[in-house]
Amino acid sequence: MKLLALESSCDETSAAIIEDGRILSNVVSSQIHLHAQYGGVVPELATREHLKNLPVVTRQALEEAHTSPRQLDAIAATRGPGLPGALLIGLKAAQTMAFVLQKPFFGIHHHEGHLYSAWIEQDLDAAPPVPRINMENFEPTIALVVSGGHTLLVHVESPLKHYVLGSTLDDAAGECFDKTAKLLGLPYPGGPVMDRLAKGGNPDAFDFPRPLLNKPGYDFSFSGLKTSVRYFLRDHPDIAETDQGLRDLCASIQNAIVEVLVGKAIQAAKKLKVHCISAAGGVSANSRLRDSLSLACQRRKIKLRMATGTLCADNAGMIGALAWLKLSQGAPGDSLDLEPKPNWELPSA
Ligand code: KG4
Ligand code: ZN
Repeated sequence: MKLLALESSCDETSAAIIEDGRILSNVVSSQIHLHAQYGGVVPELATREHLKNLPVVTRQALEEAHTSPRQLDAIAATRGPGLPGALLIGLKAAQTMAFVLQKPFFGIHHHEGHLYSAWIEQDLDAAPPVPRINMENFEPTIALVVSGGHTLLVHVESPLKHYVLGSTLDDAAGECFDKTAKLLGLPYPGGPVMDRLAKGGNPDAFDFPRPLLNKPGYDFSFSGLKTSVRYFLRDHPDIAETDQGLRDLCASIQNAIVEVLVGKAIQAAKKLKVHCISAAGGVSANSRLRDSLSLACQRRKIKLRMATGTLCADNAGMIGALAWLKLSQGAPGDSLDLEPKPNWELPSA
């Protein structure tokens, strides 16, 4: 079974070919440099870029996977959440292809794509090895889905059966990285830059709040942390001017965000007696988050699975892998009239 997947929910245009759960190609065209000059994603520009780049990444994904459109058994695209205009481009292109080829179409939830990307591992039996989604040894999992737009804690009870335990009440974790980085004068997107600078800094140099960490429940809130950084910089304008001061600030802000994410995931695992934690989404690339989660899970004998490499960020491979899971479980496909859902929420407890 071969399928083509498209992703265009924000500022990455991507196409991938999946065969029996294996990601044969996963082409991503990033618009980051275009939006960086504005300090964030400009929706109208993103839409135009998707329109321009979608045919290019689709052709490349087909070529890299030595696949012709006639060999496709299904077409998938991200339906939401995301920027309305951006979503429309990938969704309507996929529906049109599915109609022309008379194949089933799947409209995929972007965060479910991130969520299940934690089960994509290298298939070492293939030559050369390729990423493959593998849920054979599934065990119930507490999943952190952390990106620029959302911060979710999800209980995955069985493959494709999951519900949200908590989400952010205001800013997402990635948004908090990006906005505090901006306050420090760092370029967009701030998350990866902060991660790099924090490596030479002291994570305990400054004590920023850990919002909701010691409160019951699984919701997150990061806007207070951002405000506290703003006031700190107002009161101590010289610290960010020195290289070491800037590194210490990055490390301390990052530490506060990571402690909250790891703390809530561990609390949920304990309370619900779940012995596996996963992390996915752009922020799961953060080195301190990965180290802290590894340590915390090791200590408690909790199994950990994390999305790896380019699969952490937005990509069509994760969308296709999830569509393949649905297809392999006998899902019939979605209507070709499906419209984008920019504010699509996952089911809650
Ligand atoms: O999942 P993603 O690529 O797009 C969305 O769906 O939002 O996530 C992008 C977010 C941005 O906020 C970016 O700053 C953050 O992920 N990010 C990181 C790192 N790499 C990307 N945040 C912290 N550390 C990183 N290494
Ligand atoms: Zn994403």
